[in-house]
Amino acid sequence: MEKPTVFVTRRIPEAGLRLVREACEMRLWEGALPPPRDVLLRDVRDCAGLLCLLTETIDAEVMDAAPRLRVISQMAVGVDNVDLAAASARGIPVGHTPGVLTEATADLTFALLLAAARRIPEGIEHVRSGEWKTWDPLALLGAAVCGATLGIVGMGRIGAAVARRARGFDMTIIYTDHERKPHLEAELGVVYASLDELLARSDFVSLHCPLTEETTHLIDADALRKMKATGILVNAARGPVVDTAALLQALEEGWIAMAALDVTDPEPLPAGHPLAHRADCIVVPHVGSATVAARERMATIAAQNLLAGLRGDPLVHCANCAR
Ligand code: GLV
Repeated sequence: MEKPTVFVTRRIPEAGLRLVREACEMRLWEGALPPPRDVLLRDVRDCAGLLCLLTETIDAEVMDAAPRLRVISQMAVGVDNVDLAAASARGIPVGHTPGVLTEATADLTFALLLAAARRIPEGIEHVRSGEWKTWDPLALLGAAVCGATLGIVGMGRIGAAVARRARGFDMTIIYTDHERKPHLEAELGVVYASLDELLARSDFVSLHCPLTEETTHLIDADALRKMKATGILVNAARGPVVDTAALLQALEEGWIAMAALDVTDPEPLPAGHPLAHRADCIVVPHVGSATVAARERMATIAAQNLLAGLRGDPLVHCANCAR
């Protein structure tokens, strides 16, 4: 039987590639950067399946360029780069990879939170530059994490995993979401609050909501002004949840103390961007899920979703299927 043709938009861990290669005629974009738009539109043309990353915009134009497309499988949990409505209108299921990156992303969130609180990058710079001359009672003083109040915006899988870690630090945990999560309140002792209350009360505000129309610039100048002047903002969700210009102003004018970002807007953040050069802003390059284990599992599920869609079977995880 003829194998279906699929386009894979970047080299992914071999665990996933092997599954795709065995079952499909695989067209693989080997570039280190995402395929240019014209290449994507060209190479998807005769494909029955598309395995993509969050770096590609998968909109109606891409779908219309590929009239035989039966499945879109994204190797990520967030699918804000995929037009789900356009896919649904064409009967195309969209796969994604929730669950397997939850713990890795929560670990990274906590790494950022701790690094910002205790000014770890500045400390490293002190050592490297030779500024470390003595034990100094006044140098590099940071914020206490243990016993502080953590505000979690978006109490989904990752938000809950961050809350579990915060319990180990004896933090008071408040959260906001579009609905209350009574089971998590019971399990984790987290307390629901409005966004305004959360911003005002939290020592650390950690973002874990998906990027939607409602959450775009959720953290704008108004929101940042509501935070404590000692507050620390952590974003491991999506860059546009935060208004970048407002964040820069908030740091410059001392509305908040620090920010720690795994995601930015624009992304990647240009090397010359002012946020990349501030002691009060830590930026890492969207590595929340970047453990060997998490990326292997993501690649495997993305391949399984792709193959299931090609067979016409239900996807392991579908972002636009009726539940
Ligand atoms: C990473 O950001 C993902 O959505 O998986």
